[in-house]
Amino acid sequence: MSGPIAANRRILVVDDNQAIHQDFRKILCAPPASTTLDAMEAALFGGPATTPVDPGFEVDSAFQGEEGIVRVKAAVAEGRPYALAFVDIRMPPGLDGVETVRRLWKEDEDLQVVLCSAYSDYSWEEMTQRLGLSQRLLILRKPFDNIEVRQLAHALTEKWDLLRQSHRRMADLKREVEEWTRELAVANGRLRQEMEDRAKLELRLVQAQRLEALGRLTAGLAHEINNPLSVIMASVGFLRSELDEQIAGKRELDAPEMREVCSDALIGADRILRIVNDFRTFSRLDGQPPTRVELKDVLDHALSAASYNLGKTQVVRDVPDSLAVHGTEAGLEQVFIGMLNNCGYALQGNPEPRVTLTGRQRDDGWVVVEVKDNGTGIAPEHITRIFDPFFTTKPPGTGTGLGLSIVYGIVSGFGGTIEVESTPGQGATFRVKLPRSTEAAAPASSFS
Ligand SMILES: Nc1ncnc2c1ncn2[C@@H]1O[C@H](COP(=O)(O)OP(=O)(O)OP(=O)(O)O)[C@@H](O)[C@H]1O
Ligand SMILES: [Mg+2]
Repeated sequence: MSGPIAANRRILVVDDNQAIHQDFRKILCAPPASTTLDAMEAALFGGPATTPVDPGFEVDSAFQGEEGIVRVKAAVAEGRPYALAFVDIRMPPGLDGVETVRRLWKEDEDLQVVLCSAYSDYSWEEMTQRLGLSQRLLILRKPFDNIEVRQLAHALTEKWDLLRQSHRRMADLKREVEEWTRELAVANGRLRQEMEDRAKLELRLVQAQRLEALGRLTAGLAHEINNPLSVIMASVGFLRSELDEQIAGKRELDAPEMREVCSDALIGADRILRIVNDFRTFSRLDGQPPTRVELKDVLDHALSAASYNLGKTQVVRDVPDSLAVHGTEAGLEQVFIGMLNNCGYALQGNPEPRVTLTGRQRDDGWVVVEVKDNGTGIAPEHITRIFDPFFTTKPPGTGTGLGLSIVYGIVSGFGGTIEVESTPGQGATFRVKLPRSTEAAAPASSFS
């Protein structure tokens, strides 16, 4: 911020007539002890016939237009500009007053000017044509009235001060605005960076979740395939040695025993086939770009796909007709088929099997779907393991235990989450949280 500026009382008189300079000095430099002005003021306003001491003006002289220009230029360079110049209109042999003023303003555009003229050398129109309409210019007719000159000097130097103050204020304001703009730009940049970082972090989190899901799937795979594979190899190995002995005529074939061994091998192969099929489902789902998916359609398809396992189960649906999520249709169908098949299994033997499906749009942009059954429920010691690949409570050979881990993988792939709560003996509730679709719905087909 700038501080207060000292009043500028510097005046330049540009006139080719030596005597005029003396006159100006007399009027402007030496403050008269008691002036006619004081007397007038006292007469007009009834105040005391004294005024505060007038410090007078600092008057410099130039005798030609060119000299005046040089002085104004030097004063600006020194940082002590003139506030006012009295310029004579006629100054032979040099520049005339109007040209001088035009050039003075090139050096100092704030300079206040009084053009002094004895004759009507120029009309006002001519002057404004050459100098432009300017409020920095006044015209004073010779011979001067001393008081008029003092009044002009006071008024115009004061005007110069005010002008300077307003310039400084403008400059201060401009600086402040620039500073604010800079600060705002920095804050904006920081915000943009934070948003970018956050978006990257979220992406990494989703990727990490998918990797974790995949990791969990593959970790148990070798072990799970290894067991049935060992059974198959042992069975086939046994069959071959039996056949070798029979070929060598050492032994008769024991057909029932060999049939049983074949069955063992087939059970093992069947298990491997199921695991491979589950994995194929999962990998088929991967790679499709997520879009807007109507939940109602997904649940329709999932219910019809799981209808065999649900049997006579009463299905209660509380899902709005238009509730769209961000995902793939095939992936989301797989999610709800997996969960509904589990409900069907948990409801076996239940006299009043019931599944309730609830879909809700939350204010925070998530859609929550609840799948609730009144089946067997989940034992507390199992509840933390049900999403693990190959974890199953089904009898051997019945399920791969991949259902919920595939569900988990698909849901986290869409950026969602899944959680469960259960009271053993009363049922289980699975809660899937999915991102709401922000895409506009496709226009309804005229054929549908
Ligand atoms: N709705 C449910 N009610 C009770 N238990 C459940 C329910 N859903 C899942 N579970 C438990 O979670 C376990 C794991 O489920 P998951 O779907 O992963 O495998 P699975 O159903 O056993 O086998 P698969 O899905 O391969 O046929 C189930 O064995 C069961 O113990
Ligand atoms: Mg299952």
